[in-house]
Amino acid sequence: MNEQTLSMRLERVAAHVPAGARLADIGSDHGYLPVALMRRGLITAAVAGEVAATPFQAAERTVRENDLQQHISVRLADGLAAIKPDDGITAVSVCGMGGETIRDILDSGKAHLSGQERLILQPNGGEQPLRQWLMENGYRILSEEVLRENRFDYEIIVAERAEPVSYSDQELYFGPLHLQTRSPAFLTKWQHKLRHKQKTLSHLARVQHNLPEQKLQDITRQARWINELLA
Ligand SMILES: C[S@@+](CC[C@H](N)C(=O)[O-])C[C@H]1O[C@@H](n2cnc3c(N)ncnc32)[C@H](O)[C@@H]1O
Repeated sequence: MNEQTLSMRLERVAAHVPAGARLADIGSDHGYLPVALMRRGLITAAVAGEVAATPFQAAERTVRENDLQQHISVRLADGLAAIKPDDGITAVSVCGMGGETIRDILDSGKAHLSGQERLILQPNGGEQPLRQWLMENGYRILSEEVLRENRFDYEIIVAERAEPVSYSDQELYFGPLHLQTRSPAFLTKWQHKLRHKQKTLSHLARVQHNLPEQKLQDITRQARWINELLA
């Protein structure tokens, strides 16, 4: 992967960035996403935010090598603190991290959001707490995707501020739009998850593991939901 050839995962993220956006890519690592979008003329400006020095330097290098310093600001910052009011950001991407980490970045950086930005989130697991945060903070999920690459199932969640929305426990767990469209990639993901949960449950039963009762109930309930979904 590089700034010319994105992974399929980042290509799908890129597809959700509105044309002409001013993008803040938080946790940008090499900065491939904003640089690719700028090279293709699909966005107007970008901020690439990084909390760690080595990826920050890598992003600086990618931007410099593509002569895009006038259009992409690379900033060493924790989460949404990379965004300044003058940036006029219209889309925020946070990709390739756990859903809880993305949720924490959004929650601790809320003050840096105007509420007008489209959020394009690509969690690696932990989608449920992330959807819960979106619901509790007045975001509606506009689009959801599952894609499989290198034997991993990746999710992309696109959300914007809207009228308050209420999602059920199952919608938060599986994704409200996924439950409607039930794409083949979505069903395959949950077939894998079900096998994994069944293995966990039978292992726990065998070793009589001292797992807290609540945790056991959670796994059992989730396995039931998945069974119902796939039935
Ligand atoms: C696995 S990489 C993903 C890179 C890229 N977004 C992608 O999807 O390919 C995660 C990056 O997020 C950065 N990161 C983690 N927590 C962060 C935070 N609070 N603020 C900014 N960057 C963060 C890490 O330093 C790392 O470079």
